[in-house]
Amino acid sequence: MKWTRGLDRLFRQPRMAWGEYRSYLAVHPFDRRFGVDTSGLFYDLPTGHGHDRCNNGYFAVAPSVFHQTMERLSLDLPRFTFVDLGSGKGRALLLALDHGFREVIGVEISPRLERIARENIARYRPPREAPPVRSILADAADFDWPPSPLVIYTWNAFTEPVMRRVLENLRASLASRPREAYLVYIHPELDAALEGELWLKKVWEGGVAMNDEDFSAWAFPDRTEICAIYRARPQPE
Ligand SMILES: C[S@@+](CC[C@H](N)C(=O)[O-])C[C@H]1O[C@@H](n2cnc3c(N)ncnc32)[C@H](O)[C@@H]1O
Repeated sequence: MKWTRGLDRLFRQPRMAWGEYRSYLAVHPFDRRFGVDTSGLFYDLPTGHGHDRCNNGYFAVAPSVFHQTMERLSLDLPRFTFVDLGSGKGRALLLALDHGFREVIGVEISPRLERIARENIARYRPPREAPPVRSILADAADFDWPPSPLVIYTWNAFTEPVMRRVLENLRASLASRPREAYLVYIHPELDAALEGELWLKKVWEGGVAMNDEDFSAWAFPDRTEICAIYRARPQPE
């Protein structure tokens, strides 16, 4: 059974019976190596916001899957701002620092996780010179898009009502200020909804296998993630 399927998602319960998880307490070696806290599996993340019911929960991306997917973009990344929609404790923000983006931004709705992301950013010593990185406490549906070319990344953070608003805002921002935008969607549960957006074109989809280190701390049964990349088509003024 896929971890994101099932009616129980509406009630912020685990997506599988707890016994089906390989481990939900494992600490990823990334955390020990860099002195940060990005591990853990959390479904119950109440904020009082109406979009809590759309929250798919927190677990951090497998670094090997993240890096392979970023490499798939084959873009001149220093021209792009990286935006993680649903950035949680910020692991993907820290990983994005390896790819030379001009700026790295995380948007997270849970105050508890977002506070940890800020602490992680303050603690993290990137292996190489890094661009500015910031974490914002906000609903992704209300995010005010920066004016630069965008690589937007999300790992199945929310359900369709939030995704619809994210796409509406993004489309309006691109129409008022035309620029390149790519969406990297890990575990693209809403792929069918995105396929209906004619201004978005899927340019790649594939299974990405994680390495042994990532699988050692992985909660779910599958060690391959489906990943998809969409490109925004230029829009008429
Ligand atoms: C699966 S985790 C991914 C964490 C991180 N992006 C990564 O790849 O390691 C999804 C995160 O999205 C957050 N989230 C869910 N709905 C959100 C919303 N409407 N706005 C902002 N963040 C949201 C959750 O609280 C959770 O931290």
